[in-house]
Amino acid sequence: AGPCDIYSSGGTACVAAHSTTRALYSAYSGSLYQVKRGSDNTTTDIAPLTAGGVANAAAQDTFCASTTCLITIIYDQSGKGNHLTQAPPGGFDGPDINGYDNLASAIGAPVTLNGQKAYGVFMSPGCGYRNNAATGTAIDDEPEGLYAVLDGTHYNGNCCYDYGNAETSSHDTGDGHMEAIYFGDNTVWGTGTGSGPWIMADLENGLFSGESASNNAADPSISYRFVTAIVKGEPDQWAIRGGNAASGALSTYYSGVRPSGYNPMSKEGAIILGIGGDNSNGAQGTFYEGVMTYGYPSDATENLVQANIVAAGYVAGALTSGPALTVGSSISLRATTPGYTTRYLAHTGTTVNTQVVTSSSTTALQQQASWTVVTGLGNSACFSFESVDTPGSYIRHYDFDLLVNANDGTAQFGWDSTFCPLAGLNGQGNTLRSWSYPTRFIRHFDDVGYAASNGGVQVFDNPASFNNDVSWVISAGFA
Ligand code: AHR
Ligand code: AHR
Repeated sequence: AGPCDIYSSGGTACVAAHSTTRALYSAYSGSLYQVKRGSDNTTTDIAPLTAGGVANAAAQDTFCASTTCLITIIYDQSGKGNHLTQAPPGGFDGPDINGYDNLASAIGAPVTLNGQKAYGVFMSPGCGYRNNAATGTAIDDEPEGLYAVLDGTHYNGNCCYDYGNAETSSHDTGDGHMEAIYFGDNTVWGTGTGSGPWIMADLENGLFSGESASNNAADPSISYRFVTAIVKGEPDQWAIRGGNAASGALSTYYSGVRPSGYNPMSKEGAIILGIGGDNSNGAQGTFYEGVMTYGYPSDATENLVQANIVAAGYVAGALTSGPALTVGSSISLRATTPGYTTRYLAHTGTTVNTQVVTSSSTTALQQQASWTVVTGLGNSACFSFESVDTPGSYIRHYDFDLLVNANDGTAQFGWDSTFCPLAGLNGQGNTLRSWSYPTRFIRHFDDVGYAASNGGVQVFDNPASFNNDVSWVISAGFA
């Protein structure tokens, strides 16, 4: 059985079932998600390998070979047609065209499920999915259940990495108009023990860790790589539950009455992923699977769902491919774009650029074009690049410009300075994708360095010459 078969048996059927990694019903063999590739902007649907099984990641890899891919649709498996697509503007605009949010990279969150490769939805700040015309979801004070499997190590403090029930207008229409799972370390409203991240409920104009919008010591900081997060609500009763999605049981972090001002609820029934009810889109997080039920699931039903999730066997996948890098080595990165192949990734002051460098260049220039490979400051599965002439300073993106800045020790600096090498998109060397923005790659454009996406809104996202501009032959450093 899949999670939604279990909910059905419990009398609280799924009315939305989203996953890019697996079917959530044992009989489901339809599409899980749609990807769009950068080379020709065509799309394809990815289905499970077998009914009830794991996503056909190989089909994605084939379709997306030698180009970039975005996740355009996360299909609803419940039969209600409650698919998630690129979120429109609301109280806040997103960064994409016409104020839409960004779509997620199709390769940002590789995993294996019992050894079979699949991809989750790695969402950077600015990403969001939504359905403002959902059918069958709970409205007003009607009962519902939610679970999501998330990456417990990918979060931030911005508003709001949510999955669940929200406003149909993408605007804040008042307290109680949302009931969604929140995950992150936002401290504007509620908090739990420690420094976070926490599972909380976004009930609109407040993230709740318990009855009051303040510190509730029973809501723990989460440190699991894969976390099962649960929020459910019915008239004057709601709960937060959670656990390790890779082993063990769920715990109940809150179960009790509604907060003051949130009873009765005024749920609207739209569905959000990765954003707040008003399209606040500064949060980051990673989603693997999740559902919404109609009806308040019993703890016993959820415990069976947790066992099903654990049995799915989530393990983190490889973030790198192509020629390997060696921590501690000094490297140079040579451009592969025809006409630019004598240029190397270098810096002038804080600006990352490309410069023509040879073994007879000045020592200063040779050092400017040499980088020490270190373990990724933001993720140890990837790398950061320390300036040879300015130890303690690293290549990082800021507003998607590449800069050489001193490490200030913040989590933000680590995210901005971590890059995951892949096989070069043009078949040469490596492409270096940003860990925190996996739609973006180290690119030269007019001889300046950027964290660029393939066909995004910035000038330096120009799709012309993209594959060449993001492919670098890496060899020993000049210095
Ligand atoms: O409740 C927290 C956030 O407040 C909601 O997600 C958003 O709509 C509002 O800004
Ligand atoms: O480069 C994009 C973002 O810009 C970085 O993540 C952040 O540091 C800055 O706001």
